[in-house]
Amino acid sequence: MNPLPIRVSLLPDLVPPGALAGRAVVVVDVLRASSTIVQALQAGAECVVPCSTPDDARSVRSRFGGHSTLLGGERAGVRIEGFDLGNSPAEYIAGVVARKILVFTTTNGTRAIHASREAQRLFIGCFGNLCTLVQTLARVALPVHIVCAGTGGQVGADDCLFAGRVVSACRALGFHPDECDQALIAESCYLNTARQPHGVLDALRASIGGRNLISIGFGSDVDLCAREDWAPCVPEFCISSGTIRVVDAHHAA
Ligand code: MLT
Repeated sequence: MNPLPIRVSLLPDLVPPGALAGRAVVVVDVLRASSTIVQALQAGAECVVPCSTPDDARSVRSRFGGHSTLLGGERAGVRIEGFDLGNSPAEYIAGVVARKILVFTTTNGTRAIHASREAQRLFIGCFGNLCTLVQTLARVALPVHIVCAGTGGQVGADDCLFAGRVVSACRALGFHPDECDQALIAESCYLNTARQPHGVLDALRASIGGRNLISIGFGSDVDLCAREDWAPCVPEFCISSGTIRVVDAHHAA
């Protein structure tokens, strides 16, 4: 059997037109949107509704109504006025989010999800769900495309390192980076960084997103988001319902 291709776009704007159709796409915003979505679903949130703007989020919430929804997200890294929660994964504990519908908007992450809607399957990835994500990609057996959210239109080292981590893990399962130097760049960035003790954590702290978070008092989020495999669940965006839910491991294919 021919190896399945794996590609990376280091920003949503670097995705060539039509390139995501027929692919399993992984949207990545390690610091912090994808890590927070993974944490919220792992903690029992019923689903996450990603919205591009705070106004969209408010109007989506008013359509759901009632006590079963929470508004979450950030602008400039901090909780949006009138929202229940910010964008810190540590806020999304079971006692707060279990069985709730989370209407969620962030500066870069939720936009990247909407920009990737032409995917055949659209998953959310971060270091926290790495192993389960890679197993799911192997089971789904489609060509893979990792879309990094970046930070304010700039490539982010956090997303690049995670993309490289996935490329390297998928290579071991028979995927092959084809016609895509961004996959090779991400992979060598990860392999070089991971050779140093605490290399990934140090690189996340030094990234644009990491420095921003540390400067506004969220350094502990960077530490959490650098850790692997604390949430064995894979969120998938369903385009028809506009919701992100956990993939049932037994029906992933
Ligand atoms: C984003 O989507 O831009 C980030 O998640 C920002 C943040 O970490 O607050």
